[in-house]
Amino acid sequence: MLTRVDVALGPRAYPVLVGSHCLEQIGTTLRANGLTHTNAFVLTNPVVAPLYFPKLEHSLTEVGFQRVVRHEIPATEEGKNWEQFSATCAALLEHFPDAGTAPLVILLGGGVVGDLGGFAAAVYRRGVPFVQVPTTLLAAVDSSVGGKVAVNFGGVKNIMGAFSQPRLVLCDLATLNTLSPREIRSGTAEIIKYGAVCCGDLFEELEAGALEKLLELEPQTLVSVVSRCVQLKASVVERDEFDKLGIRNVLNFGHTIGHALELSAHYELTHGEAISVGMVAATRIARHLGLCDASFQSRLEALLNRAQLPLAYHGHPELFEPMLKALQLDKKFRNGKNLFVLPKTPGNWEQVEDIPWPLVHETIRELISVK
Ligand SMILES: NC(=O)c1ccc[n+]([C@@H]2O[C@H](COP(=O)([O-])OP(=O)(O)OC[C@H]3O[C@@H](n4cnc5c(N)ncnc54)[C@H](O)[C@@H]3O)[C@@H](O)[C@H]2O)c1
Ligand SMILES: [Zn+2]
Repeated sequence: MLTRVDVALGPRAYPVLVGSHCLEQIGTTLRANGLTHTNAFVLTNPVVAPLYFPKLEHSLTEVGFQRVVRHEIPATEEGKNWEQFSATCAALLEHFPDAGTAPLVILLGGGVVGDLGGFAAAVYRRGVPFVQVPTTLLAAVDSSVGGKVAVNFGGVKNIMGAFSQPRLVLCDLATLNTLSPREIRSGTAEIIKYGAVCCGDLFEELEAGALEKLLELEPQTLVSVVSRCVQLKASVVERDEFDKLGIRNVLNFGHTIGHALELSAHYELTHGEAISVGMVAATRIARHLGLCDASFQSRLEALLNRAQLPLAYHGHPELFEPMLKALQLDKKFRNGKNLFVLPKTPGNWEQVEDIPWPLVHETIRELISVK
């Protein structure tokens, strides 16, 4: 059985289908959703391919796909670069040079495969249809939905990219069983983010024990929380698809300092771990400004602790300058003014412009200091 969440974007609307062991029937699902292609270009990586590509390929062939081409990119964030993007475009051109045989692009993997492959699909022949098949918790609850596709470039995260919505997202939660515990914890960081700033009820459910059930990949909790998060993301994206109105900024809670840390630490931390530290930083700033109280801060930090996510990255004072440099490139900062998404109470947030730099500096120093 599939749980369906619709992303209502008019002509670009699509369903997100969440289930368990549904990869085996992906061919039928594509057909049922009007995707009648007979060629597929599957982007994946060397970790995910041996685990899930054969099932995918089998299901596609069963419904009449004639050519299924597989292309792999490296299995790390460092692979999310221009060279791999270019190699992916070259593979598309090599295998599908004729406009008449343009393939359905299928992105089988985590956020790295989804972001890079979505960007390649967005620009190849000015856009070919693509489908996201997220295989990490983080990609299931966040990156596979919403149409932001990108690669890192020139030392800046996601700086080359586009808005391009998938035709369908098929999330097979059974694929999460092969994820490392570290990657599962990392995915819970984005889930805690949704609870902290988008949905107080979710925050309370996590506190009441849903977090541990998620970490154990308990099937019912997983399907209910993943589809809730997708619904929360869909409702934000529906109101601000192209990130023009400031509404979509809510999803960046923890990402301002988090991205700077992720990049400066050369991806020693996973995306979710960096975002965890970033949420702690934003919450400390919010407390200084009187936006949230001590109880919110300790509740958030307690949840992150229970997920064994880091609250700081102590022992790395040398990252201060690189982090400041990375911060200058934040897309929310304009004309030298910073802009932070800050939490208030569970499910409520505010964006604040022009926070005194000494406060930002002090917060960063504290989190990377030698203890
Ligand atoms: N586009 C968006 O809106 C958006 C939102 C959030 C994050 N992101 C991006 O997503 C990326 C992070 O995504 P991620 O956390 O999925 O990382 P990832 O894609 O690097 O995957 C993490 C690791 O898990 C492995 N893996 C994937 N699925 C597996 C499975 N089922 N079994 C075993 N191993 C598996 C991968 O090979 C990789 O080594 C970042 O680049 C971030 O910027 C994008
Ligand atoms: Zn994120």
